[in-house]
Amino acid sequence: MDGSIGGWVALVGGGPGRADLITVRGLRLLQIADVVVVDRLAPRELLTETRPGTEIIDAGKAPHGHNLTQDEINAVLVDRASRGFGVVRLKGGDPFVFGRGGEEALACAAAGLPCEIVPGVTSAVAVPALAGIPVTHRGVTQDVTIVSGHVDPSHPGSTIDWGALAAGPGTIVVLMGVAALAGVSRELLKRGRPADTPSAVIHAGGTPAETVVTGPLSDIARLAADAGIASPAVIVLGEVVALRERLLEGHRAARAAHPQR
Ligand SMILES: C[S@@+](CC[C@H](N)C(=O)[O-])C[C@H]1O[C@@H](n2cnc3c(N)ncnc32)[C@H](O)[C@@H]1O
Repeated sequence: MDGSIGGWVALVGGGPGRADLITVRGLRLLQIADVVVVDRLAPRELLTETRPGTEIIDAGKAPHGHNLTQDEINAVLVDRASRGFGVVRLKGGDPFVFGRGGEEALACAAAGLPCEIVPGVTSAVAVPALAGIPVTHRGVTQDVTIVSGHVDPSHPGSTIDWGALAAGPGTIVVLMGVAALAGVSRELLKRGRPADTPSAVIHAGGTPAETVVTGPLSDIARLAADAGIASPAVIVLGEVVALRERLLEGHRAARAAHPQR
C-alpha cells in the first residue's frame, strides 16, 4: 500500500507488549502512515516509529476521558481514509483475536475503502511463551482452546462449553479473565478438571511489569488475588504449565543475553 492509491486503512497487530514483536510489515506501514489510531494495549513505544507530523489518535484516551466507542473508531478510520490519508489502526496482539478487527474491516468495506489486515503476535500464545510456557507440547497435549473470560460461566449469556473444556486434557487459555478467574476455576473443577491441574496467571506479559503466578487450579484464583494480579492478564490452565520450571532458566538466560528494547 502507498499513497498513490489514495486513502487506505491497515489493521496492524502490534504484538503482545514488547515493541520489537511487531511484524516487519506492520512496522513498515506504521512508518509511512499519515494517521495512527492506537489502542490502549498496543505497545506505545512503537509510536516513536511514526513520521514527524503523523496524526496520533488515542482510542484509549479520548479528550473527555473515555475510550472512543467502536462506532467512533470506525468513523475516524473511514473519515481519514476517505480524505486520502494512509491510516494505521495499531492494536495489541492480533487484530482478529478478540480485537474487534473484523468490525473495523467491515466498516471500511461498507465505505468502499481498501483495508489490509496485518496479523500480529497474539498475547494468547506469546504471553505464555514469554513466561516460559508452551501452549502445546508433544506428549502432553494435542490441543489448545482460547476463550474469552469476559462473561462469567454462571452468566446466562455465556456461550462457552465449559463442560467440554473440563472433560478434555487440552490447554485452556483465557483472555480478559481476571475478574472471572474464581468463577472459571470453580466451573472447571465442578465439571471434572483435576484440582491439581497446573495453572498460571501472567500479568503484563513481555513488559517490565510482567508478573507470573502459578499454582493448582483449585487455588489459582486465591493466589492471583493475593498477588494483586490485575488486567491485562493471560490465564493458562493445563499440564503444559508444569513445563515452565524446566524451560525457564534457559529462557531467562537468553533474554538477559539479547538486547531488550
Ligand atoms: C481485548 S483482548 C485483545 C487481545 C489481542 N487482540 C491479542 O491478540 O493479544 C485483551 C486481553 O488480551 C490479553 N493481553 C493482551 N496483552 C497482554 C499482555 N501484555 N499481558 C497479559 N495479557 C495481555 C489480556 O487477557 C487482555 O485482557
